[in-house]
Amino acid sequence: MPFYHTLGKLPRKRHTVFRSEAGLLYSEQLMGNEGFTGPASLLYHVRPPTTIKSVKRVQDICYERDPDHTLKHRHFRTARLPEGGSPTLDRVPLLFNQDVAMLFARPDKNDEHWYRNSMGDEVVYVGEGSGVLETQFGDLPYQQGDYLVIHRHILHRFRMNQEAHRLVIFESKGYIRTPRRYRNEHGQLVEGAPYSERDIRIPRELRTHDQVGDFQILVKQYEGLTELILDHHPCDVVGWDGFFYPWAFNINDFEPIVGRIHQPPPVHQTFQGDGFVICSFCPRPFDFDPNAVPAPYNHSNVDSDEVLYYASSEFMSRKGIEYGSITLHPDGIPHGPHPGRAEASIGAKETKELAVMMDTFRPLHVAKQALPVEDGNYFRSWIEAGTGFNPPTS
Ligand SMILES: [Fe+2]
Repeated sequence: MPFYHTLGKLPRKRHTVFRSEAGLLYSEQLMGNEGFTGPASLLYHVRPPTTIKSVKRVQDICYERDPDHTLKHRHFRTARLPEGGSPTLDRVPLLFNQDVAMLFARPDKNDEHWYRNSMGDEVVYVGEGSGVLETQFGDLPYQQGDYLVIHRHILHRFRMNQEAHRLVIFESKGYIRTPRRYRNEHGQLVEGAPYSERDIRIPRELRTHDQVGDFQILVKQYEGLTELILDHHPCDVVGWDGFFYPWAFNINDFEPIVGRIHQPPPVHQTFQGDGFVICSFCPRPFDFDPNAVPAPYNHSNVDSDEVLYYASSEFMSRKGIEYGSITLHPDGIPHGPHPGRAEASIGAKETKELAVMMDTFRPLHVAKQALPVEDGNYFRSWIEAGTGFNPPTS
């Protein structure tokens, strides 16, 4: 998406004869969105990507709503969710609406299958872990703090290094992109944007697997998974070019914008989807006016629900919040700093916070699977300790 890129071998002109040294015609494939007019790439395969031996619906995926629709602030402790499993199949849905779903996973087993989400773009925030994302566009190494942007239909597989993984997955119905105001009319990120093209990592190594056999691909479509058996290795691309490919951006490459007095959340915006944004709250100097109140002021999120994932094991900004906590502050109720936090922030020089925020413009539903790890007292946590709020003890 961010810029034109090319990798491997290509014919000089599109849609022209392109053969292997053995004389076989390579199979050209356009992959992109919005029909033939959106961001797209052309890939050249050793074999046609269409040679499917069998299809089988293997799983329904249904995000069920919490039946309790009481309006209140909510808090979920992802550290208490079940651990283990697959990075693509063992994801716990937490929050969702028509535009986006937020899921969480702590996988420990690499997949044998290949995976393709044809229902949405994915942003996978790697809270912990490292490895390589294998894709048809080449290998994309990843590390802690990366946002992996995997547009819909991009076939991929996580090769996780043997270390703990925490993944926060955003499934977006719309195309994931850089915020419009960060780009000039020619598409380049402008000076003053909190990151530049140089911070965006894309596949640089293309490995062509010229191999026949049965290869399992799981495709998410129609609210479930379908297994396709392809008669050859799906990563048989010899070259590609275009604007459509997986890419990575590390949260530590986000350059925070600070001011003499408090800067509002839009300065932290990192990505744009349809109906939502993703923001990065990174370590930074605090406001430098002696009378500034660095803690955020109380605010009412009119027309938006606000979700924070607390991504640092070292920093707790709110009472009762733990590493891996997710808070939901919905439209309809003001929220703000906890008691004493505004006063305590005056004169503070810096924050070491690290958090990922999602703001949605339509109300979110809580998934039933999030309820076992909910802190049911969170909505009362603005009451002073001792007058009603008992912080969790474990
Ligand atoms: Fe807020």
